[in-house]
Amino acid sequence: MTTPTITSLAPLLERLFDEAEAANGAIHAAIADLSDAERARMMRSKTAYRDLYGRLKDVPLAVSRETGLLLYMLARSSRAKAIVEFGTSFGISTLHLAAGLRDNGGGRLITSEFEPSKAARARDNLSAAGLIDLVDIREGDALKTLSTDLPDTVDLVLLDGAKALYPEILDLVEGHLRPGAIIVADNADDSPDYLARVRAPGSGYMSTPFAEDVELSVRIS
Ligand SMILES: C[S@@+](CC[C@H](N)C(=O)[O-])C[C@H]1O[C@@H](n2cnc3c(N)ncnc32)[C@H](O)[C@@H]1O
Repeated sequence: MTTPTITSLAPLLERLFDEAEAANGAIHAAIADLSDAERARMMRSKTAYRDLYGRLKDVPLAVSRETGLLLYMLARSSRAKAIVEFGTSFGISTLHLAAGLRDNGGGRLITSEFEPSKAARARDNLSAAGLIDLVDIREGDALKTLSTDLPDTVDLVLLDGAKALYPEILDLVEGHLRPGAIIVADNADDSPDYLARVRAPGSGYMSTPFAEDVELSVRIS
């Protein structure tokens, strides 16, 4: 049996997760001048996200180790060939998804990031992992970059950019989702409109909170 790509990537991922944890203090420093109410407003704003994430441009803000592993496992179990990701950052989640594609025999991962320095770091990390050939890193606002040239059929979506935009990004990918397609939405509690939509009876999705602040949804019609 060959070694799964995710296993070969363990030293790189370990280093990146350690660096992400070490950078947690920088998150607080970057938003220290904001009141709790202002932070909450920016998290849920459909316009202030550029300012918020600009402050956080040097911080990985990565998914947890557990969510990373979940992404790899979902990519494998769904035999994903086409994946869309909203919010690349340094590419930690992207590495897990691309490793899943590699072990599925190949495919295409479209990911989106508006901070050029973050897109560059993600490119470096994916190159170091030998996975860059599977990944199309689209630089710019995902509202634009994910509005064209998506695969006809998408198997798996990760929502992990500005939380307030989850419904708009779902609008962009929805017509491409195959029956059974999976959507993982990280920190979905900060996107109440999104949660209301995917949990609504008759929405075409089945959806449940899963692990820490992750919403797992499946397209059923
Ligand atoms: C939570 S981080 C993503 C972490 C990444 N998924 C990981 O686990 O490694 C969110 C990222 O989305 C980016 N972002 C937020 N809103 C965006 C938008 N509208 N278009 C493109 N990128 C966006 C931010 O710059 C930030 O790097």
